[in-house]
Amino acid sequence: MLKVENINTYYGSSHILHGVSLEVHPGEVVVLFGRNGVGKTTTLKSIMGIQPPKNGRIIYKGEDITGRAPYLNVRKGLAIIPEDRRIIPNLTVEENLQLGILHKKKQLNVSEQFDMVFDYFPKLKLRVKQLGGSLSGGEQQMLTIARGLISNPELMMIDEPTEGLAPLIVEEIAEILRRLQRHGATILLVEQNYDLTISLSENLRAYVLEKGQVKLSGTPAELRACQDEVEQCLGVKL
Ligand SMILES: Nc1ncnc2c1ncn2[C@@H]1O[C@H](COP(=O)(O)OP(=O)(O)O)[C@@H](O)[C@H]1O
Ligand SMILES: [Mg+2]
Repeated sequence: MLKVENINTYYGSSHILHGVSLEVHPGEVVVLFGRNGVGKTTTLKSIMGIQPPKNGRIIYKGEDITGRAPYLNVRKGLAIIPEDRRIIPNLTVEENLQLGILHKKKQLNVSEQFDMVFDYFPKLKLRVKQLGGSLSGGEQQMLTIARGLISNPELMMIDEPTEGLAPLIVEEIAEILRRLQRHGATILLVEQNYDLTISLSENLRAYVLEKGQVKLSGTPAELRACQDEVEQCLGVKL
């Protein structure tokens, strides 16, 4: 579904991604790991067209989308759920969710889409008329994911969904990710929480980045077999 081929991405003159290649197949959950600052978010931004690569190619459903504008990518079924939770604090939960379908060209059945996200996030249904800014951190993260999900994306890129959240909420988000995977969602996930993510499912694949390059990749079992190298890349004892 997605093929990233040897991309090099810069911010001005700083060279961040050094030939990153990766693949995501339909129905797969693929995870990007790596220390802070290795280029995980930049990889997602490159795919989405927010920070296009200088060279290399991004192929989505057989089409070269390298450098294509983000709003066009949204129409084609890509969604990015950013790490900085850009919900609008003075809009209600419902209005924030409506923003998620604003850019869709294809008409969706709006009430069905709302039902679908409330099925995933019953807490949001209880707070539908409440202002986004009045939600707890965990609820705001749920709203961010729900806003991505409501557009029925074909490929969801989720950037650090559990960052800064209490353990109970982290487990709730993990459960949502498991459910999405069971329902056949295609997800490219950035996560710092290695143990939690690796335990989501044996059916995922992961790439470990170091200094803007893919250093390791594989299934949870394959990564367990080279734990020393993973630890070295991530700078943690697992
Ligand atoms: N808008 C930006 N302008 C300049 N440098 C940036 C910008 N965003 C990120 N960087 C730099 O690019 C590198 C990779 O950042 P990022 O992709 O956000 O890392 P990660 O998500 O893996 O923590 C870091 O060194 C960071 O400081
Ligand atoms: Mg990041």
